[in-house]
Amino acid sequence: MQVHRFEKVWLGAAILLIVGFIATIAYGSVGVGVGMVDDSGGQISAQAVQNGNTGTHFDDPGVVKEDGQYVVYVVARQFQFVPGSGDNPVQVPAGANVTFRVTSADVVHGFSVVETNINTMVIPGQVSEVSARFNEPGTYGLICHEYCGAAHHTMGGSVEVVP
Ligand code: CUA
Repeated sequence: MQVHRFEKVWLGAAILLIVGFIATIAYGSVGVGVGMVDDSGGQISAQAVQNGNTGTHFDDPGVVKEDGQYVVYVVARQFQFVPGSGDNPVQVPAGANVTFRVTSADVVHGFSVVETNINTMVIPGQVSEVSARFNEPGTYGLICHEYCGAAHHTMGGSVEVVP
């Protein structure tokens, strides 16, 4: 059987493209690609977060004081923030530096405090870290902005900044 020279060239180019696409996806889904997402707060076992045996503040999330700084540990899960949702708002003092350390016990969530520049993805297995200072006392909305399941639209809460 005779295969035309140009046919061979294009066949080769097409195979190269396919290999290239697969390599790109593989590169993005292991190692480097995963590391691109915000893991500024380090890695953590999502299973341990779910079971509450991480041996960290995520086992009993809330506001703690570390080195004179307020650190808020928040666990996101379908479909609430702990603390943050329901009658358990995050409470921080006005004018203080506050660092949020947020992780997920199940799927990808979002963590955004309305009217501030606090906005991060929350990825199971990783801790997202965001720092901010609230100068104005008041209640700020907290929303999940990554689709995380059937009740995603109900996932929210509030941050109370007290004078
Ligand atoms: Cu959690 Cu959307």
